[in-house]
Amino acid sequence: MSKPTDELFKNVISHCKEYGFVFQSSEIYDGLSAVYDYGQNGSELKNNIKTYWWKSMVQMHDNIVGIDSAIFMHPTIWKASGHVDGFSDPMIDNKVTNKRYRADQLLEDKIAKYEADGEADKAAALQTAMDNALKAEDLPRLKELIIEQDIQDPLSKDKPDWTDVRQFNLMFSTQMGAIAGDADVVYLRPETAQGIFVNYLNVQKSGRMKIPFGIAQIGKAFRNEVIARQFIIRMREFEQMEMQYFVRPGTQREWFEKWKEARLKWHLALGTDAAKYRYHEHTKLAHYADAAYDIEFDFPFGFKEVEGIHSRTDFDLSQHEKFSRKKMQYFDPELDENGKPYGNYIPYVIETSIGLDRMFLLTMINAYEEEDLSTPERQDSRTVLRLHPCLAPVKAAIFPLTKKDGLPEKAREIMDKLKLDFNIQYEEKDAIGKRYRRQDAIGTPFCITVDHQTLEDNTVTIRHRDTMVQERVAADDLEKIIGGLVSWKNLL
Ligand code: GAP
Repeated sequence: MSKPTDELFKNVISHCKEYGFVFQSSEIYDGLSAVYDYGQNGSELKNNIKTYWWKSMVQMHDNIVGIDSAIFMHPTIWKASGHVDGFSDPMIDNKVTNKRYRADQLLEDKIAKYEADGEADKAAALQTAMDNALKAEDLPRLKELIIEQDIQDPLSKDKPDWTDVRQFNLMFSTQMGAIAGDADVVYLRPETAQGIFVNYLNVQKSGRMKIPFGIAQIGKAFRNEVIARQFIIRMREFEQMEMQYFVRPGTQREWFEKWKEARLKWHLALGTDAAKYRYHEHTKLAHYADAAYDIEFDFPFGFKEVEGIHSRTDFDLSQHEKFSRKKMQYFDPELDENGKPYGNYIPYVIETSIGLDRMFLLTMINAYEEEDLSTPERQDSRTVLRLHPCLAPVKAAIFPLTKKDGLPEKAREIMDKLKLDFNIQYEEKDAIGKRYRRQDAIGTPFCITVDHQTLEDNTVTIRHRDTMVQERVAADDLEKIIGGLVSWKNLL
């Protein structure tokens, strides 16, 4: 049954809470804004998404390796990368309500309104004025535009009294060591990529990597977002899955195109409707990039970035060479078209950077369905998560038909064999129909029922989540049946 999109989004959020996928962090203390915890099913789903990414990026490429660098890094790294001076958003407060907004976001919303009202000229003029102000870092001009455009506080009907626009650095800082002082300031990393850059020579040398090669990493990143909204889309603590691909200068465009295509393929392999994805080309490039595309997904609130593919040039490695005074050069022994070795150079970098939490939300939204099962005789429905079996938190649930006659013992005996390979859940409470519904709601592909016939011939019924079809199979075949459907071979 199709739902209006905002209702669908609300239902997915409450489903996440009700079934142990995502909880508001520190909920019993009224929560912490834009910070979330993953519950028992959410953490399994998240781990499976990570495994899918890691296998396809690291295991499937003999020239890509994975690392796990520390969250704390030398503070000069963030000077070199440009984050200390440039990783900020222009913010403005309404003194009447004490609410804080991103000045560029207020203007973007106004531009979108002009566009929606068919006033393309006004939209274009405001876009140009805003772009010029941002480029020139002309913060007073941004405020002027907000006032000229008569922009109201989105959360209040009262006339706003705007403060000046100020730059707000998004990095969290803290102190390292016992004595607090400027020299001890360290940052919580705002991207995992820098941990890769500063280890690039360690990995290249210890792994005898030859260009082109990649380094991948999954880990937490932290940003003190000015406005955090839309559930786990914009969080202050989140997780990234990033890969830096080191290439010969001059070949970056070719590799950029390859990774752009490969990454969309990775998304589509999960069976998602291709119409739900699109590329968005960046026209305003980040300080380090010479080309950038986003892969966007059609969320219930519109298309939003899930992943970025960036051609980062040699910016980061050159900056680290300058700030650390350590050579970041790679020696390339291969011969060019004139028969001369390429020799020493700083590699160019193509980056693929996907937000794990956004991928998680996308997966939940895609999978969530309220299915009408009514017949002329009786009204019925179920909520089912049609997750790809490789991503499902629980691969099979095992139910004894009753709590007596040795059925629980037999069910546990079957489970003990299967749990070596799969995440299996045992349930004996409530009628079988209710147990099916609970497993449908968390996306379990198989439910296995142990009944009296099992004790006689060692067969069980297996019920398939999507079709709800049941069949009788030998208990000894379960490993093969489940293994066939949840094998990573189906995705890679
Ligand atoms: N290293 C490049 C980089 O960090 P980015 O576009 O800023 O690029 C990459 O971030 C991805 O991280 C985004 O596509 C998005 O999925 C995710 N992301 C960024 N900020 C986020 C936030 N505040 N909350 C959740 N995910 C975020």
